[in-house]
Amino acid sequence: MPTDLLSMNDLTDGDVRDLLDAAALYKRRAVSGAPLGGKSVVLLFEKPSLRTKVSFDIAVAELGGHPIYLGRDEVGLDKREPVEDVAQILSRWAGAIVARVFAHRSLVRLASAATVPVINALSDLEHPCQALADVLTIRERFGKLDDVSVAYVGDANNCALSLALACAATGANFRIASPSGYGFSAEAIGAISSRFQHRRDAIADHGQDPAAAVRGADVVYTDVWTSMGQEEEAQLRRADFQDFQVNEALLAKAKPTAILMHPMPAHYGEEVPAGMLAQHQSAAIDQAENRLHAQKAVLRLLVAGE
Ligand code: CP
Repeated sequence: MPTDLLSMNDLTDGDVRDLLDAAALYKRRAVSGAPLGGKSVVLLFEKPSLRTKVSFDIAVAELGGHPIYLGRDEVGLDKREPVEDVAQILSRWAGAIVARVFAHRSLVRLASAATVPVINALSDLEHPCQALADVLTIRERFGKLDDVSVAYVGDANNCALSLALACAATGANFRIASPSGYGFSAEAIGAISSRFQHRRDAIADHGQDPAAAVRGADVVYTDVWTSMGQEEEAQLRRADFQDFQVNEALLAKAKPTAILMHPMPAHYGEEVPAGMLAQHQSAAIDQAENRLHAQKAVLRLLVAGE
């Protein structure tokens, strides 16, 4: 059983399958009980959030726990006090720490010093809770994950890495197209290749050709060109990504039954045109809803050990 969830690679393929099944039961309201049994869960966020913050808060409360939100100015990781001190103190009071950080290294340090589970609520490296909600959404839409082809267009960022690893864990195929200089790091490619080691033909890097990546895909996935913390690069990125917008013309190259996915928030007019996430192929709102159900399953597994 995993002790922390910092990366999709903290979960076995079996863990992911079990979490998706549990999340589906939570969504159908087919599970009751209060597995957190009054435990407090600290939501320690260095960056703003709508979906992750609210869905974790509700998930903890509905599982019989007590959420405590701490924003950036309240704790000051490594500014007001070291990460390790924060981890040890919170571990004496709370049953888990859900943390959104700028640097993944902060999460690793939190998990090393904490004696309670640490859950990644987004770092610069990964967004595993988003990826679990994503594959849950894909499974709902297609009734399966095996051989579903997921095409990611855009920045090979934290969401892209967690999504690729989630596809590997669940039998889905993964393709990507990114502008030059915005592809996966060598370390990320190593992690993805190793998780796809028995299905090498299920991954494809289409370089700088979004049309090739999307052609015949079941899922077209994109994310913002400029993530939180990269605002100074926004103008440069708008120029570098201008041929990577997921618009009606690009989506039309996918299967007619394809769905459009985006973790949100969107920068309308950049990676998608205004209105694109409201059109009939978009699954973005379902993805957001599924954050709640997937995170309930994660909390039950890591905090309650069920
Ligand atoms: N997708 C996502 O993590 O959204 P928030 O930044 O609003 O939490």
